[in-house]
Amino acid sequence: MEIGGFLKIITIIGARPQFVKASSVSRILSKNDSIQEVLVHTGQHYDNEMSSVFFDELDIPEPHYNLGIGSDTHSKQTGRMLQSIDDVLIKEKPDWVLVYGDTNSTLAGALAAAKLHIPVAHVEAGLRSYNRKMPEELNRILTDHASNMLFTPTITAVNNLENEGILKNKIKLVGDVMYDSSVFFLERAQLKSNILELYKIQSQSYVLATIHRAENTNSQQKLKEIFNALIEIASNTTVVVPLHPRTRKYLKNYDFLDSVKKRLFVINPVGYLDMLMLEKHANVIVTDSGGVQKEAYFYKVPCVVTREETEWAELEKSGAVKLVGTCKNKITEAVSVASFPGTISDHLYGKGNASNLIVSHLLA
Ligand code: UD1
Ligand code: UDP
Repeated sequence: MEIGGFLKIITIIGARPQFVKASSVSRILSKNDSIQEVLVHTGQHYDNEMSSVFFDELDIPEPHYNLGIGSDTHSKQTGRMLQSIDDVLIKEKPDWVLVYGDTNSTLAGALAAAKLHIPVAHVEAGLRSYNRKMPEELNRILTDHASNMLFTPTITAVNNLENEGILKNKIKLVGDVMYDSSVFFLERAQLKSNILELYKIQSQSYVLATIHRAENTNSQQKLKEIFNALIEIASNTTVVVPLHPRTRKYLKNYDFLDSVKKRLFVINPVGYLDMLMLEKHANVIVTDSGGVQKEAYFYKVPCVVTREETEWAELEKSGAVKLVGTCKNKITEAVSVASFPGTISDHLYGKGNASNLIVSHLLA
């Protein structure tokens, strides 16, 4: 940073959960006159309901650059991102590159910056599922090891990084920016969302399900097992499914989409404000999403996770989520007995001020 000049930060985002995460930090950055944030959208997600709805609802400024990368194999998508981000970084010469989470956009941003010796700050650092087959796990490890400042949401994440030999002075425990967002936007969601009225859904009378994890969608057997479980659950209660485009594509390929649509309340992906309301008013949430697991805990809704492991270890330890894998009977059984634990800390993910702490560290 020049004396008397701006601290120039390039934020790189591209996928739905990153819009939710960056919204809280960008809001704090925009309040500081000595910081200039340049927003880069890789275009990894591009449908209105996967992208622009979040910019509109969460007051995220229009990106300065939209790289329009779109969908492809992991390497082609990441490679094209690297090339385009490289051009932006060379032109903009930022003081920091800020990346979020564990998607291909995260890895591309971190790697492009590290190759140009631009310091990288990683928000949501240190998470590990210890399942190397997950594309996200590889992205997390590589991004953390390319980063100069690692903002961790939990003590577990700090320990994971220290165990991998990352220097303590790079690690900053700040809490979870998704918690900040869920606190900040709840009131707006309550005022603006009419999703329950729109779909004539009664509070506390339905199961909410989101499924999109590659390990579940890419196996016909697993995806059918999960959706057959949801269909069985739907014989007793409404099951609302905002369907991720990846999952829609695979269900269609497996010739199963029509059966699913007949038995479940399938809707398009919804905006964040609607999603918070759907989560808050659900009886039980069934998901393989990282973010939705945490939001279930924020709103004290029992959560059944269709995975074998979670990077949010404290949710499992405290009983807030139940890991059941993809076996149909295990899913239906877990949903039938699901309850939120009576004694559980309200502050597993900080105090709702992670974004402020991140900006203070960047300025320091
Ligand atoms: C990505 C992230 C995942 C994250 C998820 C959040 C990686 C490796 N994965 O997974 O960690 O949990 O985002 O939702 O980065 N598609 C559309 N419209 C869109 C976007 C995608 O139709 O706007 C379809 C395309 O067919 C595409 C597929 O969804 O091939 C998957 O999209 P992609 O961004 O590759 O991965 P996600 O499954 O969304
Ligand atoms: N989300 C949303 N609409 C939906 C599904 C999810 O707004 O239809 C939000 C959800 O509330 C959370 C984030 O998207 O804040 C989670 O993203 P996703 O499940 O796609 O990815 P993950 O967290 O698994 O990486």
